Amino acid sequence: MSRTRVSIGVIALSIGVVAGLLLAAAAPPAAAQGAAAVAAGGSGAQGDQPECMGDAEVPNPAVNCPDRFAWQVFAEVNAPAGGGSGQTVWQTWSTDDETFPCPPTPSECGGTGPASKGCPVFPGETRTPTASAGHQRSARAQQIDLQTPAPAPDAAEPPAGPPQTLEIVHRNRPTFDYIVANDLWYVEGLEKAFADGFVFDFPTDAIEFKSNWSLLAEGDDPSRYHTMERDGSTYLLVAFHISTKDLPNWFWSTFEHVDNPGRCDFIGCHDSFGVVPHDVAPHPKVLNRQYPPGELTAPVQRRLAKLAPEFRNYRLKGSQTDYTTPTGLPTLLGNSVTESGFVQTASCITCHGRATIGASGTSPYPTVAGLTPDFQSFNGPPRTEWYYSNERPLHRWSVQTDFVWAIPFKANSIGATETCCAERETGGPPACQD
Ligand code: HEC
Repeated sequence: MSRTRVSIGVIALSIGVVAGLLLAAAAPPAAAQGAAAVAAGGSGAQGDQPECMGDAEVPNPAVNCPDRFAWQVFAEVNAPAGGGSGQTVWQTWSTDDETFPCPPTPSECGGTGPASKGCPVFPGETRTPTASAGHQRSARAQQIDLQTPAPAPDAAEPPAGPPQTLEIVHRNRPTFDYIVANDLWYVEGLEKAFADGFVFDFPTDAIEFKSNWSLLAEGDDPSRYHTMERDGSTYLLVAFHISTKDLPNWFWSTFEHVDNPGRCDFIGCHDSFGVVPHDVAPHPKVLNRQYPPGELTAPVQRRLAKLAPEFRNYRLKGSQTDYTTPTGLPTLLGNSVTESGFVQTASCITCHGRATIGASGTSPYPTVAGLTPDFQSFNGPPRTEWYYSNERPLHRWSVQTDFVWAIPFKANSIGATETCCAERETGGPPACQD
């Protein structure tokens, strides 16, 4: 499959934790390290089998009908939560801030009395919609502009007023309970896990949800979006990732609001179940344009029937179940909002495969989020040297946290001060961790 390469002037890292813009070299990085790569679900990669179009029971739906399975999970987690609060099911789950309090106080947790501020919290339906905690994304996804030169670094200072974008991670009860029960929510607990040879393996009903929000701006029609009020401002849900432990290396899917400019840039959009046409090619040269919405299929409409009508405006960009296609090409999947700047190399499963801790209980990699030195994603199969030393006797220097980046990224040290927690709001991993 050939892919047109596009030069970009400026990329912004949107993992949500790195301050500052990154200036890309004139030539873009290759679409993948080494061999050619294909979009997950795209031509040459695995899509749904014909029997997935009906409602028939299929064995192992996550692997046999990945796009149908993605929509099934979409319908379950975006259903209205009880209590008439206008929230979805996933909004009642524990956020990163709630799972990984700062500073953590494990000695005060686990009793029957009122939990201390340093203990993990699972809010459930008691959460009021406005109390949902979130992080400001420190590097806003930039409009990729092919003509304008890169701005000076201080031009990236965020404007005063409410943050323009928010990124929030929620995890369901089984995921939360696993982290808490195994003391994986603070650095000292992770140090011990490393020392003890703990094997990270989330239960099969684990689900994690990462959402990206934009501040309502002039010209936006909020009725087309799932919205959230926060500190007196309205935010629109523009993109989200859903990962579930239905497969040993997790099931990966990402959705975008249909109006997102550049939604199918670089890798196209691939949904063999929910929308016709199933495959949309990326615009070859000009980025950030609108893509046609396509038509929702009848089976997906049936699944959306119980959801708020605005959920009909989201599209599955693709789902990913393996590092490579059956013939060994790396599979790519990334969201135009969340992976802005490295969609062209993004592979959920490979980058998340680099979620590890070293002996210090934190990520051992020198680059943030385990990105390549040119701030692109790794893709394709994992490399043994990410986990094992090359010296004899062989030893594990970096232990996988079962694809959950929040563990090396968000867990704090018992000794962390309020100041370093506050600094963490603008970027991570925090210096105060070690
Ligand atoms: C280049 C690396 C990279 C790529 C590619 C990537 N992610 Fe992540 N992801 C991260 C990092 C780092 C975090 C934790 C920090 C944060 O939340 O921003 C994260 C957080 C998440 C979370 C919250 C749970 C967790 O692991 O902490 C989910 C869910 C998620 N990503 C799903 C996806 C999906 C789905 C894709 C592909 C469409 C994807 N990611 C692509 C690096 C990546």
